Amino acid sequence: MTATANRVAVLHGVNFDILERRDAGVYGGLSLAQLEHEIEGWARELGLEPIFFQTNAEGEFVEYLHRLPDLADAAIVNAGAWTHYSRAIADALDVAGRPAVEVHLSDVEAREDWRRVSVFDGLVLAKISGKGPDGYREALELLAGELGA
Ligand code: DQA
Repeated sequence: MTATANRVAVLHGVNFDILERRDAGVYGGLSLAQLEHEIEGWARELGLEPIFFQTNAEGEFVEYLHRLPDLADAAIVNAGAWTHYSRAIADALDVAGRPAVEVHLSDVEAREDWRRVSVFDGLVLAKISGKGPDGYREALELLAGELGA
């Protein structure tokens, strides 16, 4: 009997621990705990098993990605500002070899030019930005389809 591949790691990067203190006009004013609670509900509805991770240390984010193949079948990655410059994180995601979706709460295409650049280009199934928390629901739906969950 094969186990169902339904574990989705939801990774948040730098400054997400203080999400409720960031510009509410851009990020919606909710806390990471509130966001994760919403994601948890959507994941369960789709038959997915979410696991959550957040760190402000780039090396810890990389090390979590090293462990990803043991921990999860797929990933949702919102690496915050690292998205725009951390080749180390991109390399680690590539090595992890799990289907991944990049999500951003804000519309990174409509802000400063440097936010349009993503190190995850070509590594992720999709990049979803500017949809607030609903972007995570969309990412979960995409991954549920991918995993056949
Ligand atoms: C973000 C967008 C990034 O540009 C920014 O640095 C963040 C949050 C988002 O979710 O909109 O920290 O990833």
